[in-house]
Amino acid sequence: MKNVNVVLGLFYGDEGKGKVIDYLSSNARYAVRFSGGNNAGHQVEVDGKKFAFHLLPSGILYKNIKAVLGNGVVIDPKVLLEEIDNLKANGYKVDNLYISEKAHVIMPYHIILDGVLEDIRGKNKIGTTKRGIGPAYCDKFERSGIRMEDFISKNFKDLLEINIRNKNVILKAYGYDELDFKSIYDEYKEYAKALKKYVCDTTTMLHKAIKNNENILCEGAQATLLDIDFGSYPYVTSSNPTIGGVSTGTGIGSRYINEVIGVIKAYSSRVGEGPYVTEQKNEVGDMIRELGHEYGTTTKRPRRCGWLDIVALNYAIMLNGVTSIAMNHLDTVGKLDTIKLCVAYKYKGKETTDFRTNIDFLKNSEAIYEEFSGNFGDISKCKSFDELPENAKNYVRRIEELTNTKVGFIGTGAGRENIIVR
Ligand code: IMO
Ligand code: MG
Repeated sequence: MKNVNVVLGLFYGDEGKGKVIDYLSSNARYAVRFSGGNNAGHQVEVDGKKFAFHLLPSGILYKNIKAVLGNGVVIDPKVLLEEIDNLKANGYKVDNLYISEKAHVIMPYHIILDGVLEDIRGKNKIGTTKRGIGPAYCDKFERSGIRMEDFISKNFKDLLEINIRNKNVILKAYGYDELDFKSIYDEYKEYAKALKKYVCDTTTMLHKAIKNNENILCEGAQATLLDIDFGSYPYVTSSNPTIGGVSTGTGIGSRYINEVIGVIKAYSSRVGEGPYVTEQKNEVGDMIRELGHEYGTTTKRPRRCGWLDIVALNYAIMLNGVTSIAMNHLDTVGKLDTIKLCVAYKYKGKETTDFRTNIDFLKNSEAIYEEFSGNFGDISKCKSFDELPENAKNYVRRIEELTNTKVGFIGTGAGRENIIVR
């Protein structure tokens, strides 16, 4: 009964998980988000229409799929309702959505506090998406959060009141405007009413699906190096986007997990602050950004760009037990004359291939590169690995060799059909 497959980001996010999820969704009966919230931004193109999902599992576009927001997700009800309305406006019924009663709700004070905390950090800011993610997870672990089951019940009023009283103490102390309970309650109780019909026990539902041998696809958001435990702390998100997050964020134990597909780009990128060993703060980075359209789906920020990093990649493969790699944007690096691949770091005069998240290590490690010839030409029509030009094959083969992992999916262009599956 190993019918659960997982898609995870292996770097700092924005690897193009949406494209791989979209491909795998055609065989799945359940599409499940297990961590994060609307800090994610996943683009999918269906029938010529582009959709950007922040919260909903992108598999929701498939009629036969049940889309699940697991208990590990933090949900901004306003954003969720907007996404639902947008789908409805595009002809989708959205009668296939299931929200865990245990998922926590992002409230307006979480969003405000996200900004306040960043202001207080000053030059040490994290560069969050300011969607209230961190403060919402704080309340969850501090045990004052509001779960979906309480949000849609009469408990909501009391819980909200206590929370607002507490948050106002903090806001006042830092000189920010205090919040008005009544206006927030009046607005949010309407959202609760609208979402109530979707809320259920998703864990039991998923375990019934496992028993019935139905395929479940867990859609990772964020990525390994943004993991609260295993990422470049404190420059991380507030959840576990790594493999363990699947279990804690859905209630599905590891014995049911089959494939773990790790998504990367043929180069790399990062948004927000934090160390990034293979970053190219130069014309090369600028060129990659333009060629790869590396501007945020969620915050529109220009992304920092650089070369693919095998040291970090092997760490992510090891942590997650990745069974195959999905590599996007092979076409993009193929437009360059020369492609570099980081195969080791030099730290304090010593070469190493052991990745560490220690900030001093990451800030002061120098990348050691191998070079490859680019100029692949147009590869968007290639349907198999064999059809790729020799330069492209060499680059992919070397990545497989260095990671001891198969590159099972290759993105060869922006469209849904531009994918090689091996
Ligand atoms: P997808 O799913 C890229 C980054 C933010 C910031 C840090 C913390 O599209 O890959 P947060 O708002 O989560 O507290 O911000 O994490 N970040 C992402 N970067 N893609 C994402 O999601 C991200 N989600 C969070 O930029 O550096
Ligand atoms: Mg993103």
